[in-house]
Amino acid sequence: MARRKQIYEGKAKILFEGPEPGTIIQYFKDDATAFNNQKHAILEGKGVLNNRISEFIMLGLERIGIPTHFIKRLNMREQLVRHVEIVPLEVVVRNTAAGSISKRLGLEDGTTLPRSIIEFYYKDDKLGDPLIAEEHITAFNWANPQEIDDMMALALRINDYLSGMFGAVGIKLVDFKVEFGRQYEGDLMRLIVADEISPDSCRLWDAETGDIMDKDRFRKDMGDVTTAYREVARRLGVLRETENSGAKGPVLVSDNGE
Ligand code: TMP
Ligand code: ASP
Repeated sequence: MARRKQIYEGKAKILFEGPEPGTIIQYFKDDATAFNNQKHAILEGKGVLNNRISEFIMLGLERIGIPTHFIKRLNMREQLVRHVEIVPLEVVVRNTAAGSISKRLGLEDGTTLPRSIIEFYYKDDKLGDPLIAEEHITAFNWANPQEIDDMMALALRINDYLSGMFGAVGIKLVDFKVEFGRQYEGDLMRLIVADEISPDSCRLWDAETGDIMDKDRFRKDMGDVTTAYREVARRLGVLRETENSGAKGPVLVSDNGE
């Protein structure tokens, strides 16, 4: 089995060199971390679920004209994506107060925000991904004003799309994080959605019961994390009812298909 060259290992994914220039293979691990790696666990089957959920979402975004890095899914844990230069920002869109905004501003979790709020965090694990202002982004040249405008416009379109998509299956999109990458084509550069969009990077609450269906189950030691992710996948129609996400045993990962 020809092993590919590893480019980068993150907390939940590994990136390998892709088969053609400009491509990368994104491998979804079962690792879950929180609070900047202070908490770590292996959640069997999580990688398989996030691979499928992120594929589904990226394809949906492409359909409404939002460019993403996604090319195709290769197997249970891997997808082929475009190589991009990652903008070192986490762009968070919030519809309802939860998590860090509740703490920072003294809001009660579940409070509907007056409007969708976009925040930028600087991607730096050593610093714990600090919240930053546009001033920092332009001063340190992490992105230029045009790119900030583009990212904000894209983030709001993604929010509209995801809110509708999840709303249709009885899930409230509380907030989510998205990352962007620069793709160069000759002299042209465009920003495209990169990384993943999955229950690891969104807050998802059951619209009826308020049950948490995202990584907060792990952050708050609530248990049944992959069960909740599987339910998200099931409602989106991503998993066939009989399909096993690998939660009951090791998943066979092959290099050339499922
Ligand atoms: P926060 O309330 O902790 O700032 O998180 C806001 C959203 O961003 C939430 O949906 C979880 C997501 N998120 C990530 O995807 N990665 C991170 O490192 C953090 C802190 C949050
Ligand atoms: N992803 C971050 C970490 O691994 C934080 C989080 O999602 O809560 O530490």
